[in-house]
Amino acid sequence: GKVILTGPPGSGKGTQAPQLSQENCWCHLSTGDLLRDEVSRGTELGKKAKEIMNQGALVSDDIVIGMIKNKLKEPICSRGAIFDGFPRTVPQAEALDKMLEEEGSKIDKVVEFNIPDEILVERITGRRVHLASGRSYHVKFSPPKVPDVDDISGEPLIQRKDDTAEVLNKRLQAYHSTTTPILNYYSQKGLLATINANQPVKTVWEDLLRNISP
Ligand code: AP5
Ligand code: ZN
Repeated sequence: GKVILTGPPGSGKGTQAPQLSQENCWCHLSTGDLLRDEVSRGTELGKKAKEIMNQGALVSDDIVIGMIKNKLKEPICSRGAIFDGFPRTVPQAEALDKMLEEEGSKIDKVVEFNIPDEILVERITGRRVHLASGRSYHVKFSPPKVPDVDDISGEPLIQRKDDTAEVLNKRLQAYHSTTTPILNYYSQKGLLATINANQPVKTVWEDLLRNISP
């Protein structure tokens, strides 16, 4: 299967995707995680992306499309892939369709995580992440066993640079103006499902599964 998870920042895409990836042995492709990895390694690409990300704007289509193209070549992705935070523009959606067509595959479902903007400030400002694995926690809603320490590796958790109320506003603007047009793009293809992301993690998981099982 090839599934896209879309929705505003903090809607829960990165919380649900790892479980989906483990249960099905599908690869989890988060362009946000891939970009943060480039930034932390200080690569040329990372240097280009860093400021843009810290300001809450979108990096260029060419950059993210190139990253996804590389990742899709990995064998595990041919079993299935979960796209998390990609595509974010209509040109990215068109490029993805083309890439998949070339390998004789296609998108099976697009799940929109629907949630009011007002809920997202608390989720974003309370998030703590383990950069190396992409695992995320929340100080109130899903705290780690030891404050600011990753449960599995024992390494410290950090707060993302873009997880402030100010930058969140910019990210929300980018979502509503530039990303929501992809909803129409996929709805016209009959691929769009919308779930209520303003529910407990487990309920969102059940709704997600119900919508992607054939
Ligand atoms: P990216 O990393 O994709 O950030 P985002 O889309 O803003 O999404 P988030 O990671 O903030 O939200 P999420 O839905 O994953 O939330 P999570 O599950 O962690 O992108 C970052 C930047 O990279 C972009 O701004 C852009 O610059 C660039 N970029 C990335 N992709 C790009 C692209 N394709 N094109 C161009 N630029 C791109 O949950 C959030 C918090 O809430 C957590 O603390 C979690 O524990 C908690 N939580 C989750 N679910 C629940 C629940 N049900 N109840 C209570 N709390 C919950
Ligand atoms: Zn995420």
